[in-house]
Amino acid sequence: MKIIIKKDYKEMNKETAEIVKKEIQKKPNLVFGLASGSTPEDCYRELCRMHKEEGLDFSQVVVFSLDEYLGLPFNDPNSYYHFYSQNLLTCINIQFKNVHFPDGLVKNPTEFSAEYEEKIKEAGGIDLQLLGIGTDGHIGFNEPGTPLDTRTHLAKLTDQTIEDNARFFGKKENVPKFVITMGPQTIFEAKKIVLLASGEHKAEAIAKALEGPITPQITASVIQKHPNAIAILDEAAASRLKKHGRNSIKQTG
Ligand code: GLP
Repeated sequence: MKIIIKKDYKEMNKETAEIVKKEIQKKPNLVFGLASGSTPEDCYRELCRMHKEEGLDFSQVVVFSLDEYLGLPFNDPNSYYHFYSQNLLTCINIQFKNVHFPDGLVKNPTEFSAEYEEKIKEAGGIDLQLLGIGTDGHIGFNEPGTPLDTRTHLAKLTDQTIEDNARFFGKKENVPKFVITMGPQTIFEAKKIVLLASGEHKAEAIAKALEGPITPQITASVIQKHPNAIAILDEAAASRLKKHGRNSIKQTG
């Protein structure tokens, strides 16, 4: 696993957008796994800019969202569908038929999850999966204790994640308690993974995920054994890493 440390949030996302751009240039029909949250927002802004100013072409790109809140319709301002529409999908030339999301209003989440896995398989698997990390070390919405071989499934959020995400919903009580999320195994099967983290409040989760044991208690730790994973961190998020010496860390920016 490669670790890249950038000076700050902006530089971290610039580096990430460059990676996405290179992957699209290499494979115009890239199957791109999207991550939500504040962390990759700037990367999406940069990809929009690349499309507008440099002609980066998304016409054949296929996207799959990592996760979605259960109970929220697509047009709810807090749905991840809405988040991606606002931050990425409406400013690039992606084709609607190539956009895949868990449906927040689905009646049978288990059946839907199996179908979602099937769709990923039909698309040839995820080529590049972007990830953020929760303060409890989760990826997607795979909370502590999720077996690492779990695929897309219905999950219940922990109090900590509900509190972390309450800022988007006004108050804690408004945060949905259930979600559909790709599982750690789905994520692990992506051909390339880029995990992003920014800020001191992510430093502990990052240290555990990248340097602690590989464990269902920190689902992000699964990326340690991935053959093609990169963690791109800002200095604050990297501040508690101990084991990774200068050789394995490429420090730039
Ligand atoms: C949610 C999302 C994760 C994301 C995490 C961190 O739990 N499901 O995919 O990584 O939030 O979000 P943020 O980047 O806003 O800190």
